[in-house]
Amino acid sequence: MAKRGRSVERSATYTASPNIALVKYWGMRDVALGLPWNSSLSVTLAGIATTTTVRFVPGQTLDTLVLNHRPATGPPLEAVRRFLDRVRGAAELREGADVASFNNFPTASGLASSASGFAALAGAASAAAGLRPSPRDLSRLARFGSGSATRSIFGGFVEWRAGVRVDGKDSYARPLFAEEHWPELVDLVCLLRNAPEKAVRSAEAMQGSVATSPRFAARQAAVPSRLRRMVRAIRDRDAGALFPLVMEECDDFRAVCETTIPSLDYLTPVSRAVLAEVRAANDERGATIAAYTHDAGAHVHVFTLREHAPMLQRRLRRIAGVDQVRSLRPGSGGHMVRGPAR
Ligand code: ADP
Ligand code: DP6
Repeated sequence: MAKRGRSVERSATYTASPNIALVKYWGMRDVALGLPWNSSLSVTLAGIATTTTVRFVPGQTLDTLVLNHRPATGPPLEAVRRFLDRVRGAAELREGADVASFNNFPTASGLASSASGFAALAGAASAAAGLRPSPRDLSRLARFGSGSATRSIFGGFVEWRAGVRVDGKDSYARPLFAEEHWPELVDLVCLLRNAPEKAVRSAEAMQGSVATSPRFAARQAAVPSRLRRMVRAIRDRDAGALFPLVMEECDDFRAVCETTIPSLDYLTPVSRAVLAEVRAANDERGATIAAYTHDAGAHVHVFTLREHAPMLQRRLRRIAGVDQVRSLRPGSGGHMVRGPAR
């Protein structure tokens, strides 16, 4: 990562949006370096974002974090500190930092706040520290906060290449298609009332799957060709080809979770009712007009095309226990809001 001269003002603000994985990252081949077993594919979402300001303060030894206007302590603060240590190491900096971050959507409720949160922190902290990372470098850095943050550096449809090198240099995200590529595609995000909070971070839970799920190896064998077929379907804006693959992948991911010992069950009966509603809508049409997917949480994303969105939204909103159905579109990548003074 390129370094540059220290500026007087060591403060920067960066914003990034969450992403939803169409091909899931689930399992690390190297935990210390955060290197995944398989490549993954996601859509960065518009309309929801994290904005983070980092200020390195001369003479300050500790880091502070204000998250959503409240001082943060415990694991969220520790994760930010560990991340800043890495940035300080690269920039040969010693100062502690004040970090202020705001998510304009619910935190830790299944909307991938860790993805946008660590992408925004990577952008703000590296700029404030006087580093000038390329977007690719930034995606490599964001990985150390949260794997899924690797992809939130870029907008539109993004691939995180697993890479093969032991040093991880070839493991980074790259944008495949811009956010405007497929204007008809929408993501109806079904937010559940009373969704349970995750007890264990995904980064930890996934290693349980690597160690114990009898389906992990078969999933690894299936993912590369599935990812290639999905990329082709997105390129061709072919919903009929993409949607069955999205559900196949989600079902495969869920099967790996459920066969992990102890079993990882992220869905609630309400989530399962959403999946059933999507299957029913497809059956009634005799065509795959919608696809469900979910991450390690109870909320469900339903991809469809604009023409079907109002009908599906009505059906999904009627499900007892579904609090909101938000219609989101592919969005832009991370960007600087206010850089350090030069
Ligand atoms: P979600 O359900 O939103 O995907 P995760 O369980 O993946 O949540 O991650 C939530 C954790 O991510 C939080 O507990 C916190 O540690 C971290 N996080 C969320 N938002 C931010 C942020 N803006 N800045 C730094 N860390 C954040
Ligand atoms: C199921 O890299 O986001 O969302 O930072 O611990 O939350 P944590 O892990 P993270 O795990 C992502 C898992 C996933 C799939 C995906 O986003 O690819």
